[in-house]
Amino acid sequence: MSSPLTNLLPVRMRSQVDALLEAVSVFTHVRDPKVLAALGPSGVRGLLLHRGKQGVPTHMPATHTAYFDWTYPNDQPEMAELYRRAKEGQWNGDSLPWHTNVDPLDPNVPLLPEEFVSYETLSNFGIKLSAEKRRELNYCMCTWMLSQFLHGEQGALFAAAQVTEAVQFFDGKLYGATQVMDEGRHVEVFNRYLDTKLNKLYVINDNLFVIIDSLMSDSRWDMKFLGMQIMVEGLALGAFGTLYRQTKEPLLKELLKMVIQDEARHVHYGVCALREHFHHHITEREREEREDWAFEVALLMRNRFMAYEVYEEWFEGLISREQWRTFVEQSPGMQQFRTVMFSRLVPNLREIGLLTKRIMPHYDRAGLMQYFGGLAADRVTAAELLAA
Ligand SMILES: [Fe+2]
Ligand SMILES: [Fe+2]
Repeated sequence: MSSPLTNLLPVRMRSQVDALLEAVSVFTHVRDPKVLAALGPSGVRGLLLHRGKQGVPTHMPATHTAYFDWTYPNDQPEMAELYRRAKEGQWNGDSLPWHTNVDPLDPNVPLLPEEFVSYETLSNFGIKLSAEKRRELNYCMCTWMLSQFLHGEQGALFAAAQVTEAVQFFDGKLYGATQVMDEGRHVEVFNRYLDTKLNKLYVINDNLFVIIDSLMSDSRWDMKFLGMQIMVEGLALGAFGTLYRQTKEPLLKELLKMVIQDEARHVHYGVCALREHFHHHITEREREEREDWAFEVALLMRNRFMAYEVYEEWFEGLISREQWRTFVEQSPGMQQFRTVMFSRLVPNLREIGLLTKRIMPHYDRAGLMQYFGGLAADRVTAAELLAA
């Protein structure tokens, strides 16, 4: 992002120019005008106007058609089975071991391993942190991630409610009711953990805001579904699993384990519903539009999930945003996050028919085709997700 011209600007202004250029670059390469029309207004609201950071409330217009069926068909046996499993899998957020004493700075029970971030990269940029400060930065990175999980869960709660109204599969509606309950519980437990154990909450990241805004305001149920069940949930599932395996904090570990079991059903439902819908109920042109949209959102998430909120709190004025990006990209924990997230997402896109030969070269250029052969969510059990 830096150029000889921007390098002449004072550091803070350079930072603002970098953010602006980055926002513009997200959308200037989008090839499909329909995708641009679907994502563009959300991009302006999220990346340029920073609507997610303007306090309470945030209003998003949501219009979709509720689909009624007065004959109550048993139309989707796989969804009916998921509904049965979801009823049996319900749990009470109060039952987690909330009595656990959590000290986020305790070196014996680290929230994240010390090697999660690359202190070497930071020190190459002239930033040397004491052991105490390193623990504090790790705590902030972990809190930032959990805050984004919580904001994503709020989006999932509303999206699940909307999709339950709008979907045409009756077994899907019953299943959807359990997901609404699940997402409510996820909001409850992440919020409680942040509020009572970590005592900190970061605002929503602009890129996550763009995605949530885009799928909330899109009237097409399958776009909401694709955005939430496949993209946001699929990536979150990978992120939850990585954090579950990395953290040594027992309450967080237990919380994530329970949430992952629910999320595995959600992504399975997403694959099941969209595979049917994309293969049998939409035109080729509509499928292509969804294929392009999914690719742009994948890029948005891969390239832009950069924890700038932590940068602004800690390092703005000390290092440039470009240096911060290098630091995040070179941090082993963040690299692992990206790898696991996309190893979950890419096979699901293949399974629902959104990763055809037409788009493959683009995934290849983005370095994501290595995950193509993996198992989709309908074939992976929660136990395998926890062990992987
Ligand atoms: Fe959730
Ligand atoms: Fe979910």
